[in-house]
Parts: sequence; structure tokens; C-alpha cells
Amino acid sequence: MMRPRPSAPARGLRFEALDCGYGDTTVVRGVSGGIERGQVLGVLGRNGVGKSTLLKALGGVLAPAAGRVVWDGTDVTRLPLHRRRAHGIGYTPQDDIVFGELSVAENLYLHLDSRDASRYARLYEAFPLLAQRQTQRAGSLSGGERKLLSFARALALDTPLTLLDEPTEGVQPENVERMGRIIRERCANSASFVVVEQHLDWVMSVADTLLILDHGEVVASGPTAELQRAQVERHLVV
Ligand SMILES: Nc1ncnc2c1ncn2[C@@H]1O[C@H](COP(=O)(O)OP(=O)(O)OP(=O)(O)O)[C@@H](O)[C@H]1O
Ligand SMILES: [Mg+2]
Repeated sequence: MMRPRPSAPARGLRFEALDCGYGDTTVVRGVSGGIERGQVLGVLGRNGVGKSTLLKALGGVLAPAAGRVVWDGTDVTRLPLHRRRAHGIGYTPQDDIVFGELSVAENLYLHLDSRDASRYARLYEAFPLLAQRQTQRAGSLSGGERKLLSFARALALDTPLTLLDEPTEGVQPENVERMGRIIRERCANSASFVVVEQHLDWVMSVADTLLILDHGEVVASGPTAELQRAQVERHLVV
């Protein structure tokens, strides 16, 4: 008798029925979603609904109390942050993690084995501001400029899955647009992104799929093209 052949592991990110929180407090409840390789998932919701908590669970900063996180067919649910890196998952928190005493360039190559400048050439080309300030102390940058530097560092790592928590906060509009362009370029090379955002127009232009949270639960989700802007906005207006 022919046995059914085991199907190839699905590529991309899947998370299923995630519960996650702090101590006894559950913040994210029963949240499921995912994306294929080469896609962007946008996570939206009002302040304090659990967007960053969900991203921490995907990045391995917080261990979920229940549910699963699967990346490219590997169950990474129990792996902490540094071990997920080995599986190609990069996480950039909401608070910028720029080292103020180091230069812009040093911040960019901090986590890399190689100081190979070609790795940053595309990023410097996309963001002349960073190129001009390579030797400047990162601590002298504005909040938005430090966010841009955090973004550039995440992109320099070139992980197959990149988790970004409000990358555009305080960033100048022209650079926000460039960030979107770079994300889409990477997607064309089958990279995937999960982006938590407040900037609705931008995220709707970048994300293939949206997930909207309220009080830690999914209140709307689906392909961006199929969600009406008004329907999305309804969950964001206070
Ligand atoms: N380290 C922590 N310890 C305890 N509670 C926390 C911690 N971080 C967040 N919370 C709580 O969890 C809830 C969700 O927070 P979270 O940061 O995930 O929300 P968010 O949607 O990212 O909000 P924002 O839009 O303001 O970034 C909030 O009530 C918050 O106070
Ligand atoms: Mg947050």
C-alpha cells in the first residue's frame, strides 16, 4: 500500500493561538497569523493593545504561555532570542537600541562578523543621512535618526525574517518612504517582515497582510488589498 508522502514544510512564518504576557497578566490572547516567504505582515492597533508583546513572542524575548511559533517548518516556540537568530530571525525592539558612544558606522557593524562595507553600500545609498554621519557619535542623532539607524542595522543583518517594532516613529517622511522601498526590495529576494506600525498609510502600502489587535485579540485580519481603509481605521481611532 502506498503511504502518503509527508508534505514539504511550509516556508514562512506561522503562529498559532499565542497567549503571552507578563507574570500572571495575559496580554495577548489566542492570536494566530502568518506570512509566506517574501511577504510583509503589518500589525496594527491602538496604544497598549499588545502589539509589542506579540512581536516579543515572535522574536523570542518572551516565552508564550500557550501556542506555537513556526518558521520555515521549524518550531521555534521555546527558543530564546539568540537561538532564533541562528534560525534567521532578527528582532528590533520599539525602543531604539543604538549605542550613543559609538559612531553611526560602528553601530551598523556591531553585530556582524564582517565590516565589509559593501554590506552597507545599499543602505548608505538609500539613506544619505547615515552615510554623511558615519563617523558621528550615534548619541548626537535625533530620536527619528536613531530609529533609522536601528532600521538600517536590522537590514544590514539581512535575516530571512525581520521583526520591526514601529520602525518609522519620528523618521522624516522621505526616509519612511525609502524604508518601505527597501523592505519591498528584500521581499523580492524572499525575505519576510513583521512590522508593528502606527503609520497607517505607510503600512497599508508595504504590508501584504494585516493583523489588527484590540485588547490582545485579533479583531480583523486578511490581505491588505481586501481590507477597506475605513474598516481598519475603525479599530484604530480612540
Ligand atoms: N514589561 C512589562 N511588564 C508588565 N506589563 C507590561 C510590560 N510591557 C508591556 N506591558 C503591558 O502590556 C500591555 C500591552 O503592552 P504592549 O507594549 O504590548 O502594547 P503596544 O500595543 O505595543 O502599545 P504601544 O502602541 O504603546 O507601543 C500594556 O497594558 C502594558 O502596560
Ligand atoms: Mg508597542
